[in-house]
Amino acid sequence: MIYSKIIGTGSYLPAKVLTNYDLEKIVDTSHDWIFSRSGIVERHFAADNELTSDLALQASLKAIEAAGIDANEIDLVIVATTSPDMSFPGTACVLQGKLGIKNGGPAFDIQAVCGGFIYALNTADMYIRGGQAKTVLVVGAEVLSRMLDWNDRTTCVLFGDGAGAIILRASATPGIVAAKLHADGSHRDMLKADPFISMDGKSVFKFAVKVLSDVVEEILDEKNLSGADIDWLVPHQANIRIIEATAKKLGMDMAKVVVTVDRHGNTSAASIPLALDTAVRDGRIKPGQNILFEAVGGGFTWGAVLIRW
Ligand code: ACO
Repeated sequence: MIYSKIIGTGSYLPAKVLTNYDLEKIVDTSHDWIFSRSGIVERHFAADNELTSDLALQASLKAIEAAGIDANEIDLVIVATTSPDMSFPGTACVLQGKLGIKNGGPAFDIQAVCGGFIYALNTADMYIRGGQAKTVLVVGAEVLSRMLDWNDRTTCVLFGDGAGAIILRASATPGIVAAKLHADGSHRDMLKADPFISMDGKSVFKFAVKVLSDVVEEILDEKNLSGADIDWLVPHQANIRIIEATAKKLGMDMAKVVVTVDRHGNTSAASIPLALDTAVRDGRIKPGQNILFEAVGGGFTWGAVLIRW
């Protein structure tokens, strides 16, 4: 049996930091409003000359170094993003070029908004289990700051830029043990970017809490596990209240949840690999532990992935 195992993680945040107090100078808002509704304190914004692929490159180089591999061992590159450098070529091809990968392996983007990293991870896992790839670079990277409507204070205060990357490799031992993906296009207008992000915040909140609760239950039931068996929940970092609701559903103490939304804001497809890299590098995540990822995003798309680290 072939499994896929994460053998290295990396992340990158642009240098520019905007606190809620900085936003108070730009829009009619307050630190207290933002923090109490979302848990966000600050977020990073890309420089004018920084593209999504630049953020992805920095995160990828760190993941490659952590995995101890040569970039040319990567035989598939997948980038989850909703803020690509341009319409085409895909950000994954740009990244493959910037990494100097010359082996001709496939490279493509996945657009599932905040659910993108879960979709990309599942796709990479299937390539590995199907024998079509051995070493996959999976990246979540976003420059959402260019999609913000500064006249809409209900959304512009919630998002940030960043990138996270993992190296996934074929392994005889787990690895990714389960994945559940879903979509429901009937709610496509509840949260969208055309060209700026807009949403019905209250409806998004209710929908997110409901489907995340359902999908974590679905994945744990399949494996006959409960919240007590999960060592770390690494959720999509949209909003601390959504994260707390999912942890409560799992019966998990917040001490077992990796939270970075306070420092990163909502970085869409980048948020899970950014949070994961944080918890791997500070030593919280250790071999043998059960790690659960979950995310929901515009579309709607949502899903969960269970990993034996
Ligand atoms: N600063 C100050 N006041 C504001 C701001 C702001 N930035 N934005 C809105 N308000 C005001 C509104 O004008 C409104 O005022 P009014 O009552 O006088 O009309 C009031 O605050 C609304 O406040 P609440 O009803 O308390 O807002 P709510 O509790 O719904 O919080 C929020 C809004 C944070 C958007 C919430 O609905 C939410 O978290 N939704 C989930 C959205 C989310 O996380 N999306 C992320 C993308 S999706 C994803 O990643 C899953």
